[in-house]
Amino acid sequence: CHIRGLIKMDILNVSNLTFNYNNNLENLPILKNLSFNVKSNELVSIIGGSGCGKSTIIKLLASIEKPIQGDIVINSISYMPQSDTLLPWKTILQNILLPIEIEKGDLIKEKDNALNLLKRFNLLSYADKYPKELSGGMKQRISLIRTLMNKGELLLLDEPFSALDAITREDLQKWLLDSLNSLQKSMIFITHDIDEAIFLSDRILVCNEKPLSSFKEFKVPKDTTFEETAKLKKEILKSVKGVEDEKI
Ligand SMILES: Nc1ncnc2c1ncn2[C@@H]1O[C@H](COP(=O)(O)OP(=O)(O)O)[C@@H](O)[C@H]1O
Ligand SMILES: [Mg+2]
Repeated sequence: CHIRGLIKMDILNVSNLTFNYNNNLENLPILKNLSFNVKSNELVSIIGGSGCGKSTIIKLLASIEKPIQGDIVINSISYMPQSDTLLPWKTILQNILLPIEIEKGDLIKEKDNALNLLKRFNLLSYADKYPKELSGGMKQRISLIRTLMNKGELLLLDEPFSALDAITREDLQKWLLDSLNSLQKSMIFITHDIDEAIFLSDRILVCNEKPLSSFKEFKVPKDTTFEETAKLKKEILKSVKGVEDEKI
C-alpha cells in the first residue's frame, strides 16, 4: 500500500494501521488502528518503553513487514535499522556505497556523491580506512551517511545513538540536526532519551498504551526557555512513566 504522489504537506500518512507478527487478528495486535502523519521537513521522535512497537512501526514504514489492516502513504524513505553495522572487510567508501551495490546502481556516478557527502561532513580523509580504524562516534556518522545515500525524503532512524557515550552522543545530535537542516529532510527518530527527543524534534510521539492505537503527542516549541523545556520534559516523562507503571 505504498502510493506515489502524495500531497505536498504530508510526507507520510499512516491511517488505521493494525499489525501483529502472527498475521492473525485473533491474537492481540501490537498496533491497533494507529494513525499519524509526518509533514514535509518535519522532525518527529517516537519514545516509549522497550517492546511497545517502535521498531515494528519503522519496519512497516520500510515495507519490511506488511500491515494486516490500514494504509501507509509515503513517497520515499531512507532506513537505518536498530543494529546497523559497517562491514569490517570493506573500506568506509565501500561501506557507504553498499546500498548502491545491493541495488545494482551506478557505482561510478554514486562514488562522487559518496565522496561529496564525506567531504561535506569533514570525513573525506577516512574514505579508504577500515571501520576498525574509526571511533564509535565516527562509525555511527558513517552509518548515517550510508543511510543518506538512499536519497529518501523521510529518514527512519531506529535508536541510532543508543550505544554511544554521552559526549559523543551530544556531538552527533548537533551534527545530525545540522545535516538535516542543510539536506531539507524529514525524519522519524526512535529513542529512549527524552532530552535527545526534545533537542532533535519538532514533535514527540509517546507510545502510552498497549496495543498502541494512538500516541500522546507533544509539540516542541522553537526557542524555548530552560524552564519551559524542563516543564515539557516533566510532562513527557509522566506520560512515558504512566505506561511503565501500568505494566508493574
Ligand atoms: N520478528 C518478530 N516476531 C515476533 N515478535 C516480534 C518480532 N519483533 C518484535 N516482536 C515483538 O513485538 C513487540 C514490539 O517489538 P518492537 O517493535 O521491537 O519494540 P520496540 O522497538 O518498541 O522495543 C515486542 O513484544 C516484541 O517481542
Ligand atoms: Mg526497537
